[in-house]
Amino acid sequence: MFFEIEGITKRYGGLVANSNVSLHVNRHEIVGLIGPNGAGKSTLFQIIDGFVRPDSGFIRFKDKDLTKLPTSKINKAGIACTFQHAQLFPQLDVLESVMIGTYCRTMNRAAARQEAEKLIAFTGLQGKEGTLIDKLTMFDRKRVELTAALATQPELLLLDELFAGLNSTEVSEMVDLVLRIRRELKPTFLIIEHVIKVIMSICERVYVLDYGKIIAECKPDELSKNPLVVKAYLGEEYDAS
Ligand SMILES: Nc1ncnc2c1ncn2[C@@H]1O[C@H](COP(=O)(O)OP(=O)(O)OP(=O)(O)O)[C@@H](O)[C@H]1O
Ligand SMILES: [Mg+2]
Repeated sequence: MFFEIEGITKRYGGLVANSNVSLHVNRHEIVGLIGPNGAGKSTLFQIIDGFVRPDSGFIRFKDKDLTKLPTSKINKAGIACTFQHAQLFPQLDVLESVMIGTYCRTMNRAAARQEAEKLIAFTGLQGKEGTLIDKLTMFDRKRVELTAALATQPELLLLDELFAGLNSTEVSEMVDLVLRIRRELKPTFLIIEHVIKVIMSICERVYVLDYGKIIAECKPDELSKNPLVVKAYLGEEYDAS
């Protein structure tokens, strides 16, 4: 199995953020993880990434147990993440931010810089190498975060609400970029997203979390036919067309 989570539970005091969550992702798939606010989606990503320890359960990547590894080793194993609230250093510029990623694979400064410049061009940020992060638009910050994640050469890319806060033109551009990354760099994706148009246009399979539990696993076009999903997330007025 390429990637699997088995029986993950995480409690914060009396609150169960993840309750016996199991899911899998096949190599080269784009899988969506959706659900209402507070359902436990970001918590699950933090657990996969090693930032948060689960109370129980396992995470396996290419049959290796990652459950107790530190974040640096999880990244070395081939998993990278972009965060719901962009985790960039405002005082760094675009090139330096991406080089933090390339340094995960090489300690040679010239090689790290060359690889970062190549990826910056690939994601459409060329010309902005010297711009400070806090001078960038939300769209560009998200692209920098994505570029820095790519710089670690992930086989599995976790994207937590990459499309949130973008206007519809930017959403379309970001969809095109994700599909180009998939075609040319061939990572596998697990994505948390509230923009249902994105889920419908790029995901092959979707899991739905509600109150920490997986309540559905289906193809995107089956979501609106599942009464549990409609009740918990889409809302009765959701129109699949
Ligand atoms: N460090 C923490 N300490 C206490 N409670 C937490 C912590 N992190 C998350 N929670 C709680 O766990 C639940 C799940 O939060 P999480 O951020 O995983 O939800 P989410 O599905 O990503 O929501 P959203 O769609 O709003 O981003 C929420 O009730 C949240 O308040
Ligand atoms: Mg979240």
